[in-house]
Amino acid sequence: MAIHIHSKREIEKMRATGRLAAQVLEFIEPFVKPGVTTDELDRRCHDFIVEHGAIPAPLNYKGFPRSICTSINDVVCHGIPGPRVLADGDIINVDITTILDGYFGDTSEMFTVGEVSSEARKLIDVTRRSMWLGIKEVAAGKRIGDIGAAIQGFAQGEHGYGVVEAFCGHGIGKVFHTAPQVAHTGRRGTGMRMKPGMTFTIEPMINEGTHECRVLEDGWTAVTLDGGWSAQTEHTILVTEHGHEVLTMREHAFSM
Ligand code: MF3
Ligand code: CO
Ligand code: CO
Repeated sequence: MAIHIHSKREIEKMRATGRLAAQVLEFIEPFVKPGVTTDELDRRCHDFIVEHGAIPAPLNYKGFPRSICTSINDVVCHGIPGPRVLADGDIINVDITTILDGYFGDTSEMFTVGEVSSEARKLIDVTRRSMWLGIKEVAAGKRIGDIGAAIQGFAQGEHGYGVVEAFCGHGIGKVFHTAPQVAHTGRRGTGMRMKPGMTFTIEPMINEGTHECRVLEDGWTAVTLDGGWSAQTEHTILVTEHGHEVLTMREHAFSM
């Protein structure tokens, strides 16, 4: 499948939607506190996105019923906002996808709720670092497999965590999910070569225990098979002549 190379004009649109998605995460962070429901986080993000002239991509996407994903503790991804109240000690991924002027921007971050165990904080730290190690591999001429190799080498190789294989990063642009598929495991020197103008996400899901997942009866919520906790962070990346640009960068975000 041919992979779209974005023109200068399209890259500007990807920058704009990526910037907005990043701003949603900055906006919602102070609300992620004990006592809040995930429905309230969803409503606030929904309103923010619409007020900025954009559409929340998840809403009605293949039947998804909310505007963001909220994935708590053992939820790997695609958690559906609802009446669940955030409690002291929870960890939560908030995943935002905007459609601005027809272009998709996709980013997610982990938040801690009140006092969180040192084990959970380490899981989040390793997950973020693994994402950044993957991002560092992005450059014209390098291969997609280099990304997964870097992520897996660190998260599994150095820390013994499970790297989820059932869900991958993805090409993104005028469509939500397209080629290339960006696995978070793999071997160096394998897979397609990256070219300037390609845009895709890197979004490793890292599990304390087994990498295996199952999907709940709601058809969306993916949880770990063993009940261990899971963390995920995500950015939308542009391949450039000399490396990459993180289109969903935030001013105060952790980076490496
Ligand atoms: N934002 C998710 C991703 O990173 C996809 C969510 S699809 C939904 O690819 F329908 F669950 F919202
Ligand atoms: Co994504
Ligand atoms: Co996402």
